[in-house]
Parts: sequence; C-alpha cells; structure tokens
Amino acid sequence: MFNHIRIAILSIALLAMASCGSSPEEKKTEKEPVTADKTATTGNAAKGKSLYTTCATCHGQKAEGMQALGAPALADQEPYYLKNQLQNFRTNKRGVHEKDAYGAQMAPMAKILDSEGIMDVIAYIKTMPSPTIETTLEGGNVENGKNYYNMVCGACHGPGAVGIESLNSPKLVGMQDWYLERQLNNFRQGIRGKEEGDTFGAQMQQIAESIPDDQTVADLIAYINSLKAE
Ligand code: HEC
Ligand code: HEC
Repeated sequence: MFNHIRIAILSIALLAMASCGSSPEEKKTEKEPVTADKTATTGNAAKGKSLYTTCATCHGQKAEGMQALGAPALADQEPYYLKNQLQNFRTNKRGVHEKDAYGAQMAPMAKILDSEGIMDVIAYIKTMPSPTIETTLEGGNVENGKNYYNMVCGACHGPGAVGIESLNSPKLVGMQDWYLERQLNNFRQGIRGKEEGDTFGAQMQQIAESIPDDQTVADLIAYINSLKAE
C-alpha cells in the first residue's frame, strides 16, 4: 500500500536534486550526513548579537525557544534552513495564511532584517549551545513512527532526521515536539506550503497531506523524540 507513496517521494526528491544544479562540492555534502557546523555561515556574529535582542523576546536569550509564546528553539537548527525560513517569512511565502496565527507573529520580525542582517543574526544564533529539549507530547508509538519515518520521511530528512542541505530539508531531531506537531498539522491543512513560490514548502505539504491520521503524527513525533540525546 505504501509503494505508490514511496515512488511519489522518490520522484519529488530526485526532481529537487536535479533542480538545484548540484556542483561537485554539493555532491560531496550530499553523501555525508549534515551535522551542526557552528561556523557554516558567513555572517558577522557581533552585529547579529544586537539584531538578536528583538528575537530573544520570543525565542529566548539562548535561542532555546519558548513554548508559552509558540516560538521554537533556533540554536540547534542548521544555518541553511534558518536562512530559507527567514527569507520565506520576509517574502510572504510563510506566515500569511489567515489561520497561521503563530506565523503572523513571526513574519513582521523577519521583515526588519535585510539579507546581510539574516546572515549576521544566524551567525550569532550559531554561537549558542544546543538547548535541552523536553518531551511534552505522549501517546505515540515509537516503533510505528520509525517504520513510517523510514518509509516516507527518511528520503528527504535523512537517517537520524538530521536534515539534508541539498534538499533544503530541515533537521527534525532536537526540535520541540509541540512545534513539530504544529508544523505537520499546518502542512496537512494547507496553512503552510501553499503560498506562491514556496517550492520547498509545497514538497513537504504534499507529503504531509498523505499522513493518514493524528495517530500517525503522534507516532512520528514519538520516534523523532526517541532520536534526541537525553
Ligand atoms: C513576537 C514573537 C517573535 C519574535 C520577536 C521573533 N520570532 Fe521567530 N518565530 C516566532 C514564532 C511564534 C514562530 C513559529 C511560527 C510558526 O509556527 O510557523 C517563529 C519561527 C521562527 C523561525 C522558523 C523556525 C523553523 O524551524 O521553521 C525562525 C528561523 C525564526 N523564527 C527566527 C527569528 C529571528 C531571527 C528573530 C529576530 C529577528 C525572530 N524570530 C523574532 C515568534 C517570534
Ligand atoms: C520530498 C522531500 C520530503 C519528504 C519526503 C518529507 N519532507 Fe519534511 N520537509 C521537506 C522540506 C524541503 C521542508 C522545508 C520546507 C520549507 O522550506 O518550508 C520540510 C519541512 C518539514 C518540517 C518543518 C520543520 C520546521 O522546523 O519548520 C517538518 C516537521 C517535517 N518536514 C516533517 C516531515 C515528516 C514527519 C515527514 C514524513 C512523514 C517528512 N517531513 C517528509 C521535505 C520533505
């Protein structure tokens, strides 16, 4: 029953790879799992520090996230993905759907940054230590989540859910479970990934639509939680 989904995913993944005009260097990084490289950004961390003052109100002093405000941890996410999302918010590819209450809070914040500011603030964020991520959701079955992840998600998010830069897919391990759940449901409901020009969001949106039920979301999250360092 999953075969047709697998074929669809593989063709999306291949299309994504073909369309990013891979240079020999990119091919090299594709094979190796992407690990957090704290220096993999060209920004100026000192300038980024003053820009980050605004961000800290919601994302926390150490970019550890604040559940009460719905703002996720940023410290452990990969620079390429932080950059893509800040650009998406800035150019109305994310955070504009009428039901996206949290995205609507973030979008104006991205608009205070220009391209250089984005790189600077990311350079500062990457000086932060990896935050401790609490498990807040229960009721998922790790084994079922693992099977579904390997069948459907692993092709793009990689083994261990560390993200794949050449596919623009984010790291999922070490992200807060309440945030992952919200994003999966936003994609499932077309609140995220449906704006014009949001190529990568659209890829994820299609996959999320094929997740059969809330239990599968819970299982996936239980599996991703099980991968994080205790
Ligand atoms: C008013 C509160 C608020 C402020 C201030 C704020 N953010 Fe956010 N941010 C959020 C919320 C809420 C989300 C989650 C949006 C969603 O659910 O889609 C978010 C999401 C993000 C994301 C996407 C993360 C991901 O994994 O997709 C990035 C990157 C980000 N913020 C960076 C920043 C930066 C950099 C600043 C400072 C310039 C900043 N934020 C300021 C509330 C805020
Ligand atoms: C075809 C490739 C592909 C597949 C398969 C895929 N994803 Fe994604 N996923 C992406 C891309 C690309 C993004 C980034 C979208 C964007 O730029 O907004 C993403 C984003 C996400 C996000 C948002 C994270 C954040 O920090 O905002 C979550 C959560 C996620 N994927 C979970 C999953 C799960 C769970 C599965 C399996 C059911 C899955 N993905 C399958 C490509 C994929």
